[in-house]
Amino acid sequence: MADENVRDGNAAEGIDRAARALALSSRTVVLTGAGISKESGIPTFRDLDGIWTKYRAEELASREGFLSNPALVWNWYMERRTAARAAQPNSGHRALARLETLLPVFLLVTQNVDNLHLRAGNREIVELHGNIERYRCFECGKPSREDDSWSKGPPRCACGGLIRPNIVWFGEPLPAAELECSYRETQRCDALLIVGTSGIVHPAAMLPSVARQSGAFLIEVNVDPSGITPIVDVFLAGKAGKVLPGLVRRVEEFLAG
Ligand code: OAD
Repeated sequence: MADENVRDGNAAEGIDRAARALALSSRTVVLTGAGISKESGIPTFRDLDGIWTKYRAEELASREGFLSNPALVWNWYMERRTAARAAQPNSGHRALARLETLLPVFLLVTQNVDNLHLRAGNREIVELHGNIERYRCFECGKPSREDDSWSKGPPRCACGGLIRPNIVWFGEPLPAAELECSYRETQRCDALLIVGTSGIVHPAAMLPSVARQSGAFLIEVNVDPSGITPIVDVFLAGKAGKVLPGLVRRVEEFLAG
């Protein structure tokens, strides 16, 4: 279904079709993945230089991995947290923050845990995979706040359990309210904009099909075709930081009449 000719993010026709659909949309959902943060210096997971090509997900992103070496897992997330804090939102994040201010009902569903959408200015955000700045007890589930004792390594909850990052690990369910909200809004959106995700991690990867079945217009921005590309209406090839500002400018032009 994707327009195979639209291989360049500047391709005017693809940008026009996508921008028109967004400008006409009463309810819009944006789904983002690691690709949007790559230009901020945060690695993706499955590109050649991606996280899961260097590290083992079973060791670092599973309950079993945490139990067998809590310090290793804790320190790895603290390093990722430091990198996320040092990173700055890029022009792709900023364009999506601008888009939120232009459209009537808008929801940004992200698989990212890096806070860059919030820091760029988006307010209607659902974090499907958690957030690197939040923590909870591995045993009792109680949310936890950072304090001075945390410099010493994996901290403990008042119940004695280890504190873990509030990030979804492999084999774990997604947070129910966030998942429900994402599905509900995707089912009734007019346009779904998908940015920088490989579309292979479920259930987030189901959202484009949900939108497709409900008759929404699907737009994808990615440097390469993904598992989602065959069902989108417009595929805009290129870096998010390059494609999104032009797309959002065009939405503004359509809205200005
Ligand atoms: P992936 O690493 O699987 O995919 C990143 C996507 O971004 C790929 O399709 C790339 O082609 C694309 N990409 C790379 N650079 C880009 C750029 N500058 N602009 C636009 N697109 C670009 O990352 P996700 O799809 O986000 O889960 O991965 C999904 C989940 O798998 C993550 O949330 C994480 C991981 O395991 C958890 O941590 C729970």
